[in-house]
Amino acid sequence: MQIVTRVHRGSSLRVRLPRSAPLPAVVQTYAFWRDPHAYLRWCRRKYGATFTMMPLGKPPFVFMAQASDIKAIVTAPPDVLRPGEGGAVIGPLVGRDSFMLADGDDHLAGRRRILPGLHYERVSAHTQMVREIVQREVTTWPLDTPVALHGRLRALTLRVILHTIFGAGDERLDELHRRLLEMFSVAASLTLHMPALRHAPPWRGIWQRFLAHRDSVHALLAELIVERAHSRTHDHGLLAMLLGPRHVEDGTEAIGDVRDTLMSLILAGHETTGSELAWAVQLLAYHPAVMQRLVRELDRDSDAYADAVICEVLRHRPVFLFTIPRAVAKPCEVGGRTYHPPAHLLGCVHLMQHDAEAYVQPETFRPERFLDEAPRVDAWMPWGGGRRRCPGRHLALLEMRTVLRTLFERLTIEPASARLETARWRTVIVTPGSGCRVVLRKRCHF
Ligand code: HEM
Repeated sequence: MQIVTRVHRGSSLRVRLPRSAPLPAVVQTYAFWRDPHAYLRWCRRKYGATFTMMPLGKPPFVFMAQASDIKAIVTAPPDVLRPGEGGAVIGPLVGRDSFMLADGDDHLAGRRRILPGLHYERVSAHTQMVREIVQREVTTWPLDTPVALHGRLRALTLRVILHTIFGAGDERLDELHRRLLEMFSVAASLTLHMPALRHAPPWRGIWQRFLAHRDSVHALLAELIVERAHSRTHDHGLLAMLLGPRHVEDGTEAIGDVRDTLMSLILAGHETTGSELAWAVQLLAYHPAVMQRLVRELDRDSDAYADAVICEVLRHRPVFLFTIPRAVAKPCEVGGRTYHPPAHLLGCVHLMQHDAEAYVQPETFRPERFLDEAPRVDAWMPWGGGRRRCPGRHLALLEMRTVLRTLFERLTIEPASARLETARWRTVIVTPGSGCRVVLRKRCHF
């Protein structure tokens, strides 16, 4: 263990932290931003399962890849480790009243309001809606030419979450969809991670455009929320459930609260699933034997292999490399060390899911490993855990199954370049770096 002296928010702190690369913060930040998978692998090789990163302008980040440490992090009481504070990067997207940024009782109250709408039975009732959206979108994808599918997959998952929230049959959802895509174009920029850049060219322009798009999204959302609040008897979407008996008028605090909850669901519900699907498409394009077996099994109407493929995609390329950073609020012990504020603790799911002690050939994409054995809870955590465990996983799985089935009913995929794409950051998740470029071909049915 090394002693690290850090100056943070004007105060000099002497804290004991696990080892960190002896590189300036700017170099560490750049390396992690440039190729997060490679940097994490390198740190693990050099420093073991627990190491520290010094991100520029932020408190120390302690990465932990041991399953027992990750469990300790995600189950720690909220007055000891605060995920709300650690998730501040997404604040401008979801809004300050989002339950995702809250801790303790406020977080739980917000979470409880959305959970009934995302239960397995409730989500299963959306199967036909998801199928129709997927079929409509997939038929518009160009064939026989390289196409970057990530944007198209995000557009698809955004439609699904909007229909889940608002129900079907409102033409303004197309306009909301367009405005949201414009607003979320900021997600790939550094301005979310480094607020100081928002005042400097060329980022100032990106930030100003984002604020304008966000205003226009909020205006339309307010209109839809107020209208639904007055006519909720005809409505079967998640919003009706969320509104409950509340009286909501434009310009009131209640509308800000509902709007920020919706923005949280929209962000968490479409960026993640769209990006996980992009990794699935990439991995299948570069593993033709897996793709051929998947097609054969789907033709036989068997979902077992598709489910194994999805588990393996979530293991090998989880979009969240780590659980939401938990800010240390009170001294706490994890894995035999005591941590103090302002350190942040991160459960490094990506490294845990590539541990050679838990998986044979962890760097190989091999869905067969999940055919006879379900994923182990102590070695597979793509949905996170504890009080923050992903509440949208049933919807995400429904979407992933439906996209794979619809895609391979009519198409096959070929890679558009020599190697699997490296990861690129979008907000707090990682996506294929060139936008998931593949070539789609019409399937020959014999
Ligand atoms: C493949 C797709 C998805 C993946 C891999 C994923 C993964 C995750 C992870 C890792 C977390 C954080 C857990 C933690 O830090 O402990 C999370 C939180 C969350 N997810 Fe998902 N998610 C996906 C899809 C969805 C969908 C479709 C929805 C919504 C409808 C959704 C809604 C949420 C929400 C609201 C939270 C915050 C929960 C809280 O703060 O209590 N997610 N997700």
